[in-house]
Amino acid sequence: MSLKITVIGTGYLGATHAAAMAELGFEVLGLDVVPEKIEMLSAGKVPMYEPGLEELLARHVAGLPGSSGRLRFTTSWEEVGAFGDVHFVCVNTPQKHGEYACDMSYVDAAFGSLAPVVREGSLVVGKSTVPVGSAARLAELLPEGVELAWNPEFLREGFAVQDTLHPDRLVAGVRSERAEKVLREVYATPIAEGSPFVVTDFPTAELVKTSANSFLATKISFINAMAEVCEAAGGDVVKLAEAIGYDDRIGKKFLRAGIGFGGGCLPKDIRAFMARAGELGADQALTFLREVDSINMRRRGHMVELAREAVGGGSFLGKRVAVLGATFKPDSDDVRDSPALNVAGQIHLQGGQVTVYDPKGMDNARKLFPTLGYADTALGAVRGADVVLHLTEWREFRELDPAALGAVAAERVILDGRNALDPVLWREAGWTYRAMGRPAA
Ligand code: UDX
Repeated sequence: MSLKITVIGTGYLGATHAAAMAELGFEVLGLDVVPEKIEMLSAGKVPMYEPGLEELLARHVAGLPGSSGRLRFTTSWEEVGAFGDVHFVCVNTPQKHGEYACDMSYVDAAFGSLAPVVREGSLVVGKSTVPVGSAARLAELLPEGVELAWNPEFLREGFAVQDTLHPDRLVAGVRSERAEKVLREVYATPIAEGSPFVVTDFPTAELVKTSANSFLATKISFINAMAEVCEAAGGDVVKLAEAIGYDDRIGKKFLRAGIGFGGGCLPKDIRAFMARAGELGADQALTFLREVDSINMRRRGHMVELAREAVGGGSFLGKRVAVLGATFKPDSDDVRDSPALNVAGQIHLQGGQVTVYDPKGMDNARKLFPTLGYADTALGAVRGADVVLHLTEWREFRELDPAALGAVAAERVILDGRNALDPVLWREAGWTYRAMGRPAA
């Protein structure tokens, strides 16, 4: 394959994109400004937990035994500029500290470093999630003869490899036929087989990403709002979600009620979207997202109150609380804006003795919340507990033996913050099982 590809930023998005491009046969050079990340990736190690990614690196990172050698990593912008025909910008756009708006400093820095070294005739492709209007501004930073395209990414953590190699759709915001042609060439691989390719302008491409994430967040908060009403009325939100989900127009996915959404994307994306709409004078259009956000945050507080009730209704002082799950979702070690850790942290601050266990998120959780207690196993976390909170729906937790846990817990009370455990199994083993939006027994 003739096109040479660079990937700038090697987080979830960049590392996966780089490895996927190598898998498809391209020569790829990945850049990160953090030398430790480059060292790890060059040794075939993934700086985060992402199923399947390490296997992909093993197949392609240059210098590893038996690899294709098509994937290399560097910290040198000069090398990137000289190497690439197509440069994918995959850097992070976190929420600004203390503000709703998104922090564009990594994207701006990437374009600032790339502009002086990029070769004439090459194509720069933005993949980061940015406020609408960014692409038009960033295009101005590139030298003449270098074009920009915007190609948002929809991958989910935990499914990053699968989502990158088999995307639901490809979206390309372009300003010329040439840019479209180059992108089609990049994706004229097994990736594009069966994937719709939507070609559009810059603002629409940027908006597709933020509106998709807003829709998903809205769906989750909708079902969580129904959970609140179910609790008040004695209904069962799990049955309700099943029943409405049979309608194809509604669909079954993203209707799991519980402690709500977290992570590095949905929460900050809806906030950045509101902030940007405000700048554009369209804030009224997105006021509903404020409600989506507050329903979501309310879930965490509600779980704390359920836990308080479970330990007697008063203070958490002297109470032992086992927390199963630290990551914002299963199959990830990401604890950014994790509802599970937020709940654990609130209870800890109120005097509870919290012990957390998570299959993959322990290191990151310890860094973020060093004062919480941690155990090496679920059993260890539950030992002596007055209440058990199930806050991230790892498969390991579904496969736990309630009888074995019951033998070591001080009280057999479990609160299922993800509606993912089997109530019958737990109740049969003598547990009081409570879930969010479901009748108490
Ligand atoms: C999301 C989008 O799904 C993805 O397309 C985009 O590219 C990045 O943002 P991700 O953050 O990896 O992906 O997680 P996702 O699987 O969407 O889950 C987000 C949060 O919603 C998690 O905390 C999850 O537990 C929660 N969730 C999800 C629910 O509470 N209920 C559901 O029914 C589904």
